[in-house]
Amino acid sequence: MKVGGRHYRSIWRNAQDGGVEIIDQTLLPHRFEQRRLANLADAAEAIRAMQVRGAPLIGATAAYGLALAMAADPSDAALAEACRALMATRPTAVNLRWAIEDVRRRLEPLGPAGRAAAAFARADAICEEDVAINRAIGGHGLGLLRDAWERKGRAAPLNILTHCNAGWLATVDWGTALAPIYLAHDEGIPVHVWVDETRPRNQGAAITAFELGAHGVPHTVIVDNAGGHLMQRGAVDLCIVGTDRTTASGDVCNKIGTYLKALAARENGIPFYVALPSPTIDWRIADGLRDIPIEERAADEVSHLAGRADDGAMVRIRLLPDGSRAANPAFDVTPAALVSALITERGVAEASRAGLATLFPDRAAAEGSAA
Ligand code: MRU
Repeated sequence: MKVGGRHYRSIWRNAQDGGVEIIDQTLLPHRFEQRRLANLADAAEAIRAMQVRGAPLIGATAAYGLALAMAADPSDAALAEACRALMATRPTAVNLRWAIEDVRRRLEPLGPAGRAAAAFARADAICEEDVAINRAIGGHGLGLLRDAWERKGRAAPLNILTHCNAGWLATVDWGTALAPIYLAHDEGIPVHVWVDETRPRNQGAAITAFELGAHGVPHTVIVDNAGGHLMQRGAVDLCIVGTDRTTASGDVCNKIGTYLKALAARENGIPFYVALPSPTIDWRIADGLRDIPIEERAADEVSHLAGRADDGAMVRIRLLPDGSRAANPAFDVTPAALVSALITERGVAEASRAGLATLFPDRAAAEGSAA
């Protein structure tokens, strides 16, 4: 997508020397800076520190992390250690495991001499696949938005609520939940997006608002607690969110607060869609509440806020009384029963084992035996 008229992806190879570059998302929306990942440690730290974030982008970065590790040392021991180090960065998004296992499976049979080139080639391919997948998700989701607009009698605007950031900065390009919105906007459907702030790290306020603004999509940032109220007042036509891991039976794990929005949507009869690329499906598990590891992040993300003061200085302030403890579960699980439909690259499916298996019979059969 474009920023300041120039096309960017969230991760790319430098055209001059093939180096791996990212946009440092911890600085958004106040600074738009690129950063180079020079080695495995840089890639692991970028994921851990959330310079890159969002399930598909975490997977793509891990693939480049393995390639950078192989460029330094292509031995079996180094491959195993790189996989371990990357797997330890963040626990919830299954795209991390998917990408690591995918690259490792291809590298292990090769002799060390061929590993770095093969790993870079596969990481590049994962990025291309991600872009194509997300564009296809956009097309399928666009059909749902068109239908919703027709049902509304083409009355403007079509109000869509989203949570966290599932846009191009969470993927390699296009995004998942935001891809249909970009396409609808480009087609002339008058969309307006309610952007959940998404405390504590504010991916909605900082990143989704930045993305939508850069593309010219009308949007309004709201505090996380406002969504239910807006739904009761008829100000939300539908919700679309992304996911970090969806089980074989359609339970959806996503950024903390997603579940509450799904409950409010159900109570108010509002469609609640989840957009996801197939690498986000964990075919090995069926029970999201029991089987998905929920990342517990540092308490200071809750106790403190960071931002730009009116004089331009970047500041960090404390919100809590000294001595109060804070807890910070980063994701929650929305049971499949609350999800109106899953939007994938192969089409729209019911959020159920049967729905996913209809779209992905190959994957369900190959990997689903454990679930
Ligand atoms: O903690 P984050 O910012 O990595 O969480 C991101 C999300 O929860 C997204 O909704 C999810 O990864 C889907 S991204 C297309």
